[in-house]
Amino acid sequence: MRAWSTRQLHAKAEKSKRIGFVPTMGFLHSGHLALVTRAKKENDAVVVSIFVNPTQFGPTEDFNAYPRNLKKDLALLKKEKVDAVFVPSATAMYPDGVKSTINAGPESKPLEGQFRKGHFDGVCTVVVKLFDAVRPTTAYFGQKDFQQTRVVEEMVARRKMPVKIVVCPTVREADGLAKSSRNVYLSPVERAIAPVLHQTLLLVKKDLLAGEPVGKVEATAFGVLALTGFNVQYFSVCDAKTLKPLRSFKASKGKRVVVAVAAYLGKTRLIDNSLFSL
Ligand code: PAJ
Repeated sequence: MRAWSTRQLHAKAEKSKRIGFVPTMGFLHSGHLALVTRAKKENDAVVVSIFVNPTQFGPTEDFNAYPRNLKKDLALLKKEKVDAVFVPSATAMYPDGVKSTINAGPESKPLEGQFRKGHFDGVCTVVVKLFDAVRPTTAYFGQKDFQQTRVVEEMVARRKMPVKIVVCPTVREADGLAKSSRNVYLSPVERAIAPVLHQTLLLVKKDLLAGEPVGKVEATAFGVLALTGFNVQYFSVCDAKTLKPLRSFKASKGKRVVVAVAAYLGKTRLIDNSLFSL
């Protein structure tokens, strides 16, 4: 992979190519492909990686069950005419066995960090390894995983890595459910309930913009989701930069906020968020 990228970057000084990179865990859907489209628009060559990264899954999480279909993914990427697909083995990525070597920053601690210990250390570790191999000019991430974008942005800034991070909007189904590889786990009944997550986020945004108190809005949303059948892990209105909980609406006027939610529907864990300025 690195040899390929080096050729792109050093073909001839004046012809140095911009490499756009879309890291994924595969089982691709139109959310992933939107990142590819954006990368193609802004670069001379596009690389997509497919690697289900063991270090970002907890011991009780769905690493083994995570959906995989490399053949279909490669066919989709061929259609998109990407320039290279990087599909490393686990031993190529972790020759010393599975170990996280990078500590994610403070943005990793709230929200997902409370429920998926070590998850973002695993994400940071693999992203650094992928960046080392692909040497991208720009890397593309989805707003769907908003905390991941903040954690990666801060890591890149702290380490002064020569990569630009671009965040792309969340792609949704017609009924509002955010596209996710994990949506295939949902039973038909759960699938019918799932869009309530996004609908609740829209309602909360409206209420917050109307000046309703943060605590009340959060509690109502929690209640609505619980009554609909969700097992909510967190529903939190946060400062979109630090991801710390926003307490008072008045003190936050003009601030960018993210409303982030994680909830189980049966055995499937769904996350979503809404990003706006107060
Ligand atoms: P994965 O879940 O496969 O997602 C790959 C990229 O696609 C991420 O940047 C994610 O935010 C984006 N994405 C997923 N669903 C999306 C949607 N509905 N709309 C827009 N973008 C969407 O995120 C990971 O993999 C991994 O953590 C990874 C970064 C590859 C590191 O292992």
